[in-house]
Amino acid sequence: MSALLSVEGLRVDYLTAGEPFTAVRDISFEIQPNEILGLAGESGCGKSTVAYALMRLHKPPALVRRGRILFEGRDVLSFSDKDLRAWRWSEVSMVFQSAMNSLSPVMTIFRQFYDMLRAHGPITKAEAQDRTAHMLEMVGIPADRMHSHPHQLSGGMRQRVALALALTLQPKLIIMDEPTTALDVVVQREILQEVLRLKDELGFSVLFITHDIALMAQISDRIGIMRAGEIVEIGTAAQIVTSPSHDYTRSLWEAMPILAKRPKGARHAV
Ligand SMILES: Nc1ncnc2c1ncn2[C@@H]1O[C@H](COP(=O)(O)OP(=O)(O)O)[C@@H](O)[C@H]1O
Ligand SMILES: [Mg+2]
Repeated sequence: MSALLSVEGLRVDYLTAGEPFTAVRDISFEIQPNEILGLAGESGCGKSTVAYALMRLHKPPALVRRGRILFEGRDVLSFSDKDLRAWRWSEVSMVFQSAMNSLSPVMTIFRQFYDMLRAHGPITKAEAQDRTAHMLEMVGIPADRMHSHPHQLSGGMRQRVALALALTLQPKLIIMDEPTTALDVVVQREILQEVLRLKDELGFSVLFITHDIALMAQISDRIGIMRAGEIVEIGTAAQIVTSPSHDYTRSLWEAMPILAKRPKGARHAV
């Protein structure tokens, strides 16, 4: 099977005053079609830096110093702005920790779907409304909420809207950077179940980023453990849960509250 995404020796520096700071240090990994790859590690280890670089959304002072990012064999780092506009959302999309970073506070929900749809091809307003209604219903939001502004929805509903928006153009990969961290555990669990259900229905890959290794073990097929800009261990969820080979991975488990430790039957136990 050929990889959907292949990252080879990626290095990202922040060019701050003084010495450049290497936030991501020559990391390599692949994501297969229809796979959920988890990327776990403590705050500040470089997870978001990886996510932004993969989508070419990183901005100065961040600089990709080395490496390759191949999406279906295409070299993302050499894409033109036009290539990037066509590629983002339609082939790869992103859900951020706070829906407020994905959604504009000044536009209705419909407006945001409409703008994204129009940017990717001709579509009438009526068609866009049908599509928006369909997508909202798919994530459990009544279609008439498309006329609301984001602040009129709860945090959980906003995150569902961000997920619907990310799925609208049926991308092959969705990057989720701490998508449920700001939500309470019950809502978090509901949304993750929704992601698994939609993945089975639509078929897409996910790069799922979190500092919560127990949560990660519940939904991922494979897990990479990041520490200080490096991937120190990568393997199937079962390997990482039952026989972590790296001391750091073990210490992440040790840090979990006892009830969350090593969930049996890993990914289906959400
Ligand atoms: N704009 C920036 N300028 C300088 N350093 C940054 C910037 N953004 C992040 N960093 C540093 O890069 C490292 C990785 O950050 P980040 O990717 O946000 O980690 P994570 O998402 O794992 O919490 C951290 O040490 C952070 O302080
Ligand atoms: Mg982060």
